[in-house]
Amino acid sequence: MNLTLKVWRQKNREDKGRLENYNVTGISEHTSFLEMLDVLNEQLITEGKEPVAFDHDCREGICGMCSLYINGEAHGPDRKVTTCQLHMRMFNDGDTIYIEPWRSSAMPVIKDLIVDRSSFDRIQQAGGFVSVNTSGNTQDANALPIPKINADKAFDAATCIGCGACVATCKNSSAMLFVAAKVSQYSYLPQGQVERKERVLNMVEQMDKEGFGNCTNTGACEIECPKGISIEYIARMNKEYLSASYTSEE
Ligand code: SF4
Ligand code: FES
Repeated sequence: MNLTLKVWRQKNREDKGRLENYNVTGISEHTSFLEMLDVLNEQLITEGKEPVAFDHDCREGICGMCSLYINGEAHGPDRKVTTCQLHMRMFNDGDTIYIEPWRSSAMPVIKDLIVDRSSFDRIQQAGGFVSVNTSGNTQDANALPIPKINADKAFDAATCIGCGACVATCKNSSAMLFVAAKVSQYSYLPQGQVERKERVLNMVEQMDKEGFGNCTNTGACEIECPKGISIEYIARMNKEYLSASYTSEE
């Protein structure tokens, strides 16, 4: 496949940035999208030009680093895959492909296609944890009976990889799907009950502090989420939040 790439290039946070044109040739349809970018970067290095900066780590859909907006869609045209799992067979010979970073003021561009997602880390630090008994008499987690339905729902929520596609896709730059997944993951499990109220209050407070927008139930986040996290979790988080607001002692 021969392709024209229009890639966002931005030197640093302050630079205005612009789309630049590149051509890549002889790309196999079995190549992953990131491998195609590797080919582009080798070409640029050979030409003595600066390679395109983009995020990646695991390259197997686990770490959530590979955040690219491809032809106007978070993680590109395929469904329930991350950019690293996207293959070039989803494109046609001769295509022009637009490649941009996530766009959200709470996730500013650091360089080229790399954004700063530390806002997600701060939300997680505000409440995305459980108290653990480290006395030496710790109860075996498997000894705690958990209804199958709750275990399944907690597991589904826990598949969120914190990629930020939900924010990038949302017209309000809302992080509700991400935060709802993290809050719900613990709320379904006995281990998550100790901090249940503070967790949802603190995580939502931090989400608002970071400047993310609100949810207006459009549902675009659910469609573009590579892990298929359902917006039902947002409803659950709202319920958790209301309940904690009315019953919290603070
Ligand atoms: S909810 Fe989905 S889109 Fe949002 S951060 Fe988690 S995995 Fe990514
Ligand atoms: S590089 Fe880890 S999810 Fe894509």
